[in-house]
Amino acid sequence: MEFNDVRLQYGLLRNELDSVIGQVFESGRYILGPAVEHFEEEFARYCRAANGIAVGSATSALSIGLRAVGVEPGDEVLVPAVSAPATAMAVALIGARPVFADISPDDFMMDPAIAQELATRRTKAIVPVHLYGMPARLKELSKTGITMIEDASQAHGSDANWGRCGSFGELAAFSFYPTKNLGTYGDGGMLVTSQAPLAERCRMLRNYGQRENYNSEVIGENSRLDDLHAAILRVKLKKLDEWNLRRRAAAATYREAFQELPIKLQVETGKSNYHLFVVTTPERDGLHAYLAERDIPTLVHYPIPLPRQKAFAEFAPARCPRADAFCSRVLSLPIHGSISDGDVNRVIDAVRGFFT
Ligand SMILES: Cc1ncc(COP(=O)(O)O)c(C=O)c1O
Repeated sequence: MEFNDVRLQYGLLRNELDSVIGQVFESGRYILGPAVEHFEEEFARYCRAANGIAVGSATSALSIGLRAVGVEPGDEVLVPAVSAPATAMAVALIGARPVFADISPDDFMMDPAIAQELATRRTKAIVPVHLYGMPARLKELSKTGITMIEDASQAHGSDANWGRCGSFGELAAFSFYPTKNLGTYGDGGMLVTSQAPLAERCRMLRNYGQRENYNSEVIGENSRLDDLHAAILRVKLKKLDEWNLRRRAAAATYREAFQELPIKLQVETGKSNYHLFVVTTPERDGLHAYLAERDIPTLVHYPIPLPRQKAFAEFAPARCPRADAFCSRVLSLPIHGSISDGDVNRVIDAVRGFFT
């Protein structure tokens, strides 16, 4: 059984992928060429946003986005206490200070009441994460009045009552890392925004601060999606809804089957793309070992809360007890865009077997 479908996807799309890769090689346009432009347009439309700015990774999308909205060294930026380290790393990389907000015990994401308490005059941005693909509570978080950048790295195609993930904040960052719901065969990322001036600033910041070649107006970096990856992602984007539907169906089956068990699931705040399906139990390590013995791969997202990461020690006076408890209990079960009913049922039988 596979934890995800990174290898299966190539088998499914081999002919089309090989063909577009060949076309890019022959085109002679490899950086910020036509494949990138088309993909920016198509992915922004998919996210219900007006502009897409393709970059090298979501980490750099977040750093660029934070600079674009005016975050400067020393400014504070609110981030959730549980996420991939990249969320807070992007803040620290530009010299700003991540401030960690504890999570809600129900949806496992930034708790709006805690975010409100932590917001001060020094807070220049808030970066909610749609964790595991579940939409964060952006409407409530927006009551802080702080400029919002969505970390939608895991939320391609997730929908909330406020709209599609990526369409609410001033900017949103996506990742195309291979294991994401929309992933390529390397690194890649995208910023989306419906504000044209912000889009223009991000375009400069990703490309040496230039609007036109060899004329740098601000300090910018080199963070550009390659045409090769853009061409691959255009092929995969056409399959994304189908893959997300399959993930949702598998997640619904898991939810139904686990109702009676002593495990806690993420409350559904909207329509997740089910990038990950997590369960929480005080017996996490035992469950992981039991499943491994039965050849069922599981992973932990994430074992260490952000305020306890060594890299962020200088920023972390905050106590986040819910995050501490959560990270010792959470386990991700296999889920992907072509998971079979047979695999879902094997996982269910094994999880039931552990608890009964
Ligand atoms: C929530 C979140 N934010 C940021 C990132 C960073 O993405 P990338 O690897 O594209 O820099 C990831 C990917 O691991 C992520 O899951």
